[in-house]
Amino acid sequence: MNDAGPTNAEPELFSWEFATDPYPAYAWLREHAPVRWTTLPSGVGAWLVTRYGDAREALAEGRLSKNPAHHAEPAGAKGKTGIPGERGADLMTHLLNIDPPDHTRLRRLVSKAFTPRRVAEFAPRVRELTDRFIDGFGPAGQADLIHDFAFPLPIYAICDLLGVPPEDQDDFRDWAGMMIRHGGGPRGGVARSVKRMRAYLVELIHRKREHPGDDLISGLIRASDHGEHLSENEAAAMAFILLFAGFETTVNLIGNGVHTLLRHPRQRAALQESLARGESDLLETAVEELLRYDGPVELATWRYATAPLTIGGQPVAAGDPVLVVLAAADRDPARFDAPDTVDLARRDNPHLGYGHGIHYCLGAPLARLEARTALASLLTRLPDLRLAVDPAELRWRGGLIMRGLRTLPVEFTPEADRSA
Ligand code: HEM
Repeated sequence: MNDAGPTNAEPELFSWEFATDPYPAYAWLREHAPVRWTTLPSGVGAWLVTRYGDAREALAEGRLSKNPAHHAEPAGAKGKTGIPGERGADLMTHLLNIDPPDHTRLRRLVSKAFTPRRVAEFAPRVRELTDRFIDGFGPAGQADLIHDFAFPLPIYAICDLLGVPPEDQDDFRDWAGMMIRHGGGPRGGVARSVKRMRAYLVELIHRKREHPGDDLISGLIRASDHGEHLSENEAAAMAFILLFAGFETTVNLIGNGVHTLLRHPRQRAALQESLARGESDLLETAVEELLRYDGPVELATWRYATAPLTIGGQPVAAGDPVLVVLAAADRDPARFDAPDTVDLARRDNPHLGYGHGIHYCLGAPLARLEARTALASLLTRLPDLRLAVDPAELRWRGGLIMRGLRTLPVEFTPEADRSA
């Protein structure tokens, strides 16, 4: 084994190179150790599942619980959804930490309020926000697309949808900024931000109970199923998870997506031409392909075996954590033709970027709406958009669950100069 040469050497996970481009390491794992016990940088051990077939099965496996109480390790390691600060703020009882029957009850209630129709009606507002941000940086001919575009879009969109009044939305932007910058690091400021956000949400829920509106929080309060309602704590945790699950994911979908497009000029040109013809087919498959090729959620959130089981032939003990590596599964050549090639027109694309099974992304319709609107507006309004730095200078955030760029410096000809 030892003299098999460098290509067969087990790659180092969680290094700087790995954060920049984890895909070669995942290809190695898929081939040589598809269900691999790994010690994470935090010191906690977990199984990494990297093959598509195993990943899909694991995501739907009823003996893998989302409840951190099933983790065999001592307390400190528990509660790892990748969402910072939730423990201290008493926001743990949300969809990504619970199993049926509680999960079934809460998901049914939230689905009554967070409907595809509500999302579809929100389309003009997303377009308005997108245009507002492009208007903001457009005249400069340069921008950091993360800071100036991908970051504010989802936070203001979700605030609007939830019913956070406009005058309070900047506070949310600041709290969210604190969490995204320090998510994997020191907790002091993050914990404070989460506590403030929770206090605000509880107070907002009180206000909406008194004066209901047309917004999602009022919908959550109103939603009932066989006479059951969300408790106040459940409603606050639900609003929090909607904000959280829908925020950094969308930032990264736009950031990673634009980055991929800028690195694949022929594909990007085809998409631009199709948009210029007023078509939407290619835009729709493109967003799915960008999710598959370099999606925002690298690993699904933590799962814990409630009983001994096998995954891909590997015995897993009760209490062991299991991490399904969506980014590895979605490049599995056993499922996808030419998996390392970007093909915006790819049709056979059952990627796992939104997960699978009962925890399948609740916000997928909103994510698609935001990503399609963002990409279409950027490529149409700024047709010569290009990277302003050498790609080797780009830095990726090093979190475990999410994959995203710290900054995405771009330049382009301002609209006014083009029409002149
Ligand atoms: C769950 C991805 C956007 C709300 C998930 C899961 C994934 C995912 C992979 C499953 C996690 C697991 O099983 O461990 C994404 C991606 C997005 C996105 C790639 C791209 C932008 C959103 C948005 C919202 C949202 C915009 C809401 C506003 C949720 C919620 C869950 C979830 C509430 C938990 C569902 C449950 O446990 O039943 N998402 N998400 N997501 N997502 Fe998303």
